[in-house]
Amino acid sequence: MTAQHEWNARFEQFVARKTRAATSAPLLPLRTELDEPAQDAIAIGNAWSTQLFDGRFYVSPAHAGRPSCSLVFVQSLDGNTATPDPGLLGGGNTDKHLIYEGLSRVAADAVLAGAETVRGGEVMFSIWHPQLVDLRMSLGLPRHPIQIVATLRGLDLADSMLFNIPDVPVLLLTVAAAAEPMSRAIESRPWIRLLLMAEPADLRGAFERLQSIGICRISCVGGRTLAGHLLEAELIEDIYLTTGRVRGGEPGTPLSSSPWRGRTVVRKAGTGADEGVIFEHLLPRFRPDRLVK
Ligand SMILES: NC(=O)c1ccc[n+]([C@@H]2O[C@H](COP(=O)([O-])OP(=O)(O)OC[C@H]3O[C@@H](n4cnc5c(N)ncnc54)[C@H](OP(=O)(O)O)[C@@H]3O)[C@@H](O)[C@H]2O)c1
Repeated sequence: MTAQHEWNARFEQFVARKTRAATSAPLLPLRTELDEPAQDAIAIGNAWSTQLFDGRFYVSPAHAGRPSCSLVFVQSLDGNTATPDPGLLGGGNTDKHLIYEGLSRVAADAVLAGAETVRGGEVMFSIWHPQLVDLRMSLGLPRHPIQIVATLRGLDLADSMLFNIPDVPVLLLTVAAAAEPMSRAIESRPWIRLLLMAEPADLRGAFERLQSIGICRISCVGGRTLAGHLLEAELIEDIYLTTGRVRGGEPGTPLSSSPWRGRTVVRKAGTGADEGVIFEHLLPRFRPDRLVK
């Protein structure tokens, strides 16, 4: 079993590696093609992000009774999302460091991931570029978002860094049958809490309880199975979708197999080495089109 001081040291190295990657990657400004936010959109950014993103980034306010939730995805040119390494889908550095590990979650209380996106990898969903850390601090949020992991079969909590850092709270969104075998591991980790659903389809009920514990904004990082369930449950307000420059990914793995696209509110094009990359901020199909500013 890995000792706590070893997890802490591993996390320290992880933070250093992620920070180095974010600060050393050449980031290229995006070029705005469309900027028509919904009327209630909240604009976020600082001078650094606004220059690179070519404008403000928009998030939705929380609802009465449940948090607002966005999806952030990169897809290949031919529309696939599943891959062991999303970097291979051609979204580029600016997508990864400014949008994915940045603006899409900088204002989030929590990041939500499906168990398959977490299993087998060393992940922690946070903000790494110092400019984005500053932006998050200016919003009065804790250094790292709460990590919410959705699982129906349960996870080996002793096996993964994400569940072993006391300073980073975790919520397990699950059902009783999956929680039971994890109960001893949870007892010895007071920073992990259960968010139990009566059944897998009860995502809406779980979301309503999240707001009562202070989680008002969630960034869901996928994968497509969880994203599909959230779209079906009409729990998504915003979709941040980057389309990369290359074909690839596992064939037949679009963000969701059901129609989900509503109005595009923001569209940006990559520049320089990122020419061909497209970023879109979309509203889901079910969301009534809101008035534009
Ligand atoms: N392109 C991108 O932007 C992007 C983003 C994220 C992931 N990915 C890639 O996508 C792949 C993983 O995607 P995926 O669709 O296979 O899996 P996923 O959505 O990450 O995880 C699916 C798992 O989530 C749990 N789950 C699903 N619905 C749930 C619900 N209603 N309540 C509670 N838990 C629920 C289940 O966990 P159990 O397994 O425990 O039953 C299910 O097997 C990987 O290749 C990953 O690298 C790509």
